Amino acid sequence: RKDLIGMIDLSKEEILHLLDTAEKFREINHRDVKKVPTLKGKTVVNLFFENSTRTRTSFEIAGKRLSADTVNFSASASSTAKGETLIDTVHNIEAMSTDIFVVRHAYSGAVKFIAENTKASVVNAGDGLNEHPTQSLLDMLTIKQHKGRLEGLNVAIIGDITHSRVARSNIWAMPRLGINLRLFGPKTMLPLCTDPFGVKICGNMEEAVEGADVIMTLRIQRERQGKLLIPSVKEYARYFGLNAARLRLSNNAIVMHPGPINRGVEISSEIADCGQSVILPQVESGVAVRMAVLYTLGTGQRGIE
Ligand code: CP
Repeated sequence: RKDLIGMIDLSKEEILHLLDTAEKFREINHRDVKKVPTLKGKTVVNLFFENSTRTRTSFEIAGKRLSADTVNFSASASSTAKGETLIDTVHNIEAMSTDIFVVRHAYSGAVKFIAENTKASVVNAGDGLNEHPTQSLLDMLTIKQHKGRLEGLNVAIIGDITHSRVARSNIWAMPRLGINLRLFGPKTMLPLCTDPFGVKICGNMEEAVEGADVIMTLRIQRERQGKLLIPSVKEYARYFGLNAARLRLSNNAIVMHPGPINRGVEISSEIADCGQSVILPQVESGVAVRMAVLYTLGTGQRGIE
């Protein structure tokens, strides 16, 4: 496989291989010396046309821990502002012997378009509302770490599903690994049809939360909607936000959020910082997962011993 564009493309076996490899890199990340020489001589360029804190930083750390030369490209400081096209930009950076592009773009499909126009490997770091495959992988790695397995677990994703590339990647991937996925959110922010994906749409918060092993809350993706929000932020917090009373319906659930969190909207501060929250372990898993992806694409190998 040259690229990682979406979870839609990965078989169960490929997902499990990436998670196994990430677990091995997590062990390496806990050592005093975290660096391995695996990608020495390779060049990884982070091509971000949209803002990011976690994904960009963790890809940079992942590349450096694998000894790759890692370069960060920020669209706002580049010649795209002078009218250079997306593909011309990619070809110019490719001419500097780039081996892997890590790309985030506001438009769904832009990352695939780049992958089709470069010989370098391309990793999707989030394209519009389409997919965010490494977020899905780090979500599953974190769940496995805290629950010991994936198969048979009940995972609830709550909030703005329609505009979330994180939800979409998990909808493709989780049922493939035997996870029972439930969705709940405002009717204006739910896909109209999920039957083909084997995903359940819940009618209320109680149905979503009761008996869940994992509860993932999502922020409103304001950047992908018009000015008029339906529901409003206040209504979203009131009817779809995760708070202590709602979490009590599932005492054993871990709480997840891809970040950035909006405290007091989709999740209360009390819950974001409580013992059941694994929001920061998700971020930690992100480095190991991104090392696994860069390693797999950069070496053409499927796993490490
Ligand atoms: N989860 C996530 O993609 O966060 P960033 O937007 O900060 O990268």
